[in-house]
Amino acid sequence: MSTFDPRLVRGDIAQLKRVVNGYPLTYLDSGATSLPPRAVVEAMDRYYALHHANVHRGVYQTAAEATALYEDARSAVARFLNAPGGASEIIFTKNCTESFNLLARSWGAANLTAGDVVLLTEMEHHANIVPWFQLRDAIGIEVRFIGVTDDFRLDLTNLDELLRGVKLVSVTAMSNVLGTINPIRELADAAHAVGALLAVDGAQSVAHSPTDLVAMDCDFLAFSAHKMLGPTGIGVFWGRQALLDAMPPFLGGGGMIGDVSVNGFTSAPVPARFEAGTPPIAEAVGLGAAVRYLEGLSMAHVAAHEAHLTADALTRLNDRFDGRVRIIGPSTVDRRGGVISFDIEGVHPHDISQVLDQHGVCVRPGHHCAKPLMKRFGLNATARASFGPYSLTSDTDALLDALDDAMTMFGA
Ligand code: ALA
Repeated sequence: MSTFDPRLVRGDIAQLKRVVNGYPLTYLDSGATSLPPRAVVEAMDRYYALHHANVHRGVYQTAAEATALYEDARSAVARFLNAPGGASEIIFTKNCTESFNLLARSWGAANLTAGDVVLLTEMEHHANIVPWFQLRDAIGIEVRFIGVTDDFRLDLTNLDELLRGVKLVSVTAMSNVLGTINPIRELADAAHAVGALLAVDGAQSVAHSPTDLVAMDCDFLAFSAHKMLGPTGIGVFWGRQALLDAMPPFLGGGGMIGDVSVNGFTSAPVPARFEAGTPPIAEAVGLGAAVRYLEGLSMAHVAAHEAHLTADALTRLNDRFDGRVRIIGPSTVDRRGGVISFDIEGVHPHDISQVLDQHGVCVRPGHHCAKPLMKRFGLNATARASFGPYSLTSDTDALLDALDDAMTMFGA
């Protein structure tokens, strides 16, 4: 039974009680990182206070407790994603970026050869671009891109042609700049029809809408905990069990081996094969707590709440500024999430963001690690407001008032 009430969620976030520059803090940067609720902070605190030990090594009581907590988190993530093969398909990494590096360097290096094609999109984050260029430079694969239309959607008109020679399609579920939500199931079906696999960047989607790996029918998924009310320092890489079982290790060291001798080593089964060294234990505990917290809210309710906030903000930005604040993203909430990038002619997004900060309003200026997308739209940067489950329409009120001030100051 969901207890979702955004005002109660807000009450769980200590930082949202702060006053900054004389104003109540208005946090509109959940696309960059989310604010952890008390339950997450307390779970990590409790872990360090009472249960801290290394995992999968000691035989004493607290080591067993730490291992159980770490593995509980893995099970919680598998449940949250509806992972078809369960917890052993969940790999803990450092972040979403490391998950993509794992995919490229392990699956990619083992399964691709010169001339094979990896198909990305122009709206990818650098985390899902640079590792593929690195692989291209190492072994000669081709990296190809699906374009973005003038109305900020993937241009799928020539998908059949783009899929020629493709072994992997790797695409974001939701753009961190545009808010565009991509048709994952459609892309999975198209990729599978030509014998390719589909990898999904869930960094901007997992905390804002339900994730169902069975329904998505993708083959790999990557995301970070810190964008879903959890801590920094831990990410998730999910893959189908049979694919993971066939993949070589990415990082080598303790914990990932079956055996080592002076002649070489054998690898442990997954997931241990991909978790070399002491893993982020406290962070896993925090991620598990974040998952349970989000499950308590119900992701369907979170998605509905953020759709309401986004529709309201898009309407009011247009009404109040009459087109002078140009939205870089779809104009309605149809297949669109709560990330609102905007551009004000003649004013640099950094300057806008600095004036907003004087009102206690946090937005992110910059290229958002999506330079190909910026180039596509002839921009160097945007300012970006992004919502979380604790956001309220009063946050949009504060944004609009602060933007009013900025527009006056810059004569925009
Ligand atoms: N990838 C994060 C963002 O979009 C940091 O802001």
